[in-house]
Amino acid sequence: MDTTMNVLVTGGAGYIGSHTCIELLNNNYGIIVMDNYSNSSPEALRAVEKITGKTFPIYECDMLDYEGFEKIFQENKIDAVIHFAGLKAVGESVGKPLEYYHNNLTGTINLLRLMKAYGVKKLVFSSSATVYGMNNTVPFQEDMPLSTTNPYGTTKLMIETILKDLCFAEKDWKVALLRYFNPIGAHQSGLIGENPNGIPNNLMPYIMKVAIGKLPCLSVYGNDYPTPDGTGVRDYIHVCDLATGHLKALEKLDSIAGAQAYNLGTGKGSSVLDVVHAFERASGTKVNYQFAPRRPGDIAECYADVSKAKRELGWEAKLNLDEMCRDSWNFIKNQK
Ligand code: NAD
Ligand code: UD1
Repeated sequence: MDTTMNVLVTGGAGYIGSHTCIELLNNNYGIIVMDNYSNSSPEALRAVEKITGKTFPIYECDMLDYEGFEKIFQENKIDAVIHFAGLKAVGESVGKPLEYYHNNLTGTINLLRLMKAYGVKKLVFSSSATVYGMNNTVPFQEDMPLSTTNPYGTTKLMIETILKDLCFAEKDWKVALLRYFNPIGAHQSGLIGENPNGIPNNLMPYIMKVAIGKLPCLSVYGNDYPTPDGTGVRDYIHVCDLATGHLKALEKLDSIAGAQAYNLGTGKGSSVLDVVHAFERASGTKVNYQFAPRRPGDIAECYADVSKAKRELGWEAKLNLDEMCRDSWNFIKNQK
């Protein structure tokens, strides 16, 4: 009898999805990947196959195409879903709210309808620390009041709510809501990582482009926050640690009741200048920066209370900021 657990990975060609696919394959899960490549390319999945020496079914498919999506459920035995697919740029979401609500919400509802129709009731969902909003004090705990400041964040909060309602109504669903803090770093092979087109919005991709000479200078948004050096503090987590968190969540699903939220972070805050200096040390390059005004919507400090994930999932992040910067550099230095 085949006892392999088969996991459908939506958005599996993306940054976090591709790293999680490696971890799943290395731990003998079967995977089926679907992605519309709106923010990724099939190359990442070829790299996953190269790194693991394994192949798996890949569907180029949009979550919004219900019939196309259904084919994946018809053609595969699926035991659980890890749902990464979604649009994720905060600034863009402010300008294109309908696109974000349609893609992230309608896409997720299509997924949930199909899961229900095919009797798949186990789900790990990519949520975000953005759901803690601007009014909580650090460290953020899972039971704090939630709020958002932009359409992207609102899609995450709305999907969390939908999943909680679903689990309340139908007791056989098992859902983990994983609230990621700030994923950076790359697989140690240097074959996959995050390299957005154009001008990045997030700190590490921006630093990397400055380090390789593609951009002249990093703007540090604000040096007057009430933090040790005045710059914003975040909880950076290595994407490979984040990937193992998904496996721990999958293992836990059988024994959790309804929808459970877990913070995935290190529990440690680092400032923008901490990251710049760690990256300089790891890469041996100079990262030019200048101070600029605060970015609207940013908070001074954001880091996780990680005790729930440690206690209930038996998971904690292992890699430190220097190792995150080492692996980010190892990836980006090979990119054109
Ligand atoms: P990513 O953009 O690299 O990956 C998302 C993938 O989803 C992409 O490959 C994209 O092509 C795919 N996709 C988008 N819409 C789709 C659709 N309609 N149908 C099929 N595929 C679709 O992003 P990531 O950084 O890997 O993030 C993965 C998930 O984690 C996202 O849901 C994101 O919101 C969430 N998240 C990310 C971060 C972060 O900092 N990277 C933080 C918190 C939460
Ligand atoms: C951002 C999003 C958040 C999302 C997360 C992961 C905003 C307001 N928040 O979080 O919703 O979940 O990304 O995708 O966009 N910084 C600079 N210069 C830069 C870029 C960033 O100084 O060019 C600073 C920021 O002010 C912040 C820190 O670096 O203090 C991290 O920023 P970023 O990487 O964008 O992540 P978040 O703002 O934490």
